[in-house]
Amino acid sequence: MTVLITGVTGVLGSELKKLFPNSISPEHKDFDICDKNQVNALFNKEKFDLVIHTAAYTTVRGCEENKELAMKVNVEGTKNLVNAILKFSPNTKFVYISTACVFDGHSEMYTESSIPYPENFYALTKLLGEYETQKISNHIILRTNFVGKKKWPYPGAFTDRFGTYIFADKVAYGIKEICESNLEGIVHIVGDKKISMFDLAKITTSDVKPITINDYSGPKLTMDMSLDTIRWKKYSLD
Ligand SMILES: NC(=O)c1ccc[n+]([C@@H]2O[C@H](COP(=O)([O-])OP(=O)(O)OC[C@H]3O[C@@H](n4cnc5c(N)ncnc54)[C@H](OP(=O)(O)O)[C@@H]3O)[C@@H](O)[C@H]2O)c1
Repeated sequence: MTVLITGVTGVLGSELKKLFPNSISPEHKDFDICDKNQVNALFNKEKFDLVIHTAAYTTVRGCEENKELAMKVNVEGTKNLVNAILKFSPNTKFVYISTACVFDGHSEMYTESSIPYPENFYALTKLLGEYETQKISNHIILRTNFVGKKKWPYPGAFTDRFGTYIFADKVAYGIKEICESNLEGIVHIVGDKKISMFDLAKITTSDVKPITINDYSGPKLTMDMSLDTIRWKKYSLD
């Protein structure tokens, strides 16, 4: 099976590479999803059975401050891959990694049939990427919420933001399982417990400081990112 992984140097992409060691997985410096010619040239040369698209501009603050780049990478970049598949290999399975942040976070435990309502520009671009993805008949949109299993990268973590988080290695495992199943369309890859971001951070970093949204200034954040699933199983946070 010929597999393409985008975003291989990222948190999730690097975990996926371990599970798909023979995949073609060019780094950003060698393959820019925003460059239509580069994308078309790759799809003209290789016939992929499966494309797992993780590459994105992923910082909420960055996307808010640089909306043009956010649109270019997260929407146009996804569109370039989608159009290349439609043109060169319409039977390719296309897996798009989306986010719990497509929901407004004013409620909780959103399912695959809940209605998205993004709170910030990053989330909006990820939702627009979902709509690009739906142009391919053989697509899977995976909404999830994860961190790498390593020291928490900030001094503090929110006690009042919540999610059904899982670690990136488990998300990669879930992606592989779902690709091997017959599922199509929107699927949530979720942990089996709703916890605060602070409780998540404490798992790897005992000295992380509790903070609340009142300590934060910046773009609007999704407060409750907890996801449920009515289409797939849940994963444990370990
Ligand atoms: N982390 C989360 O909590 C979370 C939650 C839900 C969904 N997601 C989604 O899951 C996916 C992976 O997230 P992540 O946290 O693993 O991301 P990440 O660590 O920020 O990695 C992003 C990857 O995309 C690459 N990239 C950026 N722009 C590119 C371009 N124009 N062309 C090709 N590659 C490009 C980056 O390469 P360079 O670094 O070299 O630019 C990097 O390899 C993303 O689609 C994200 O929206 C993330």
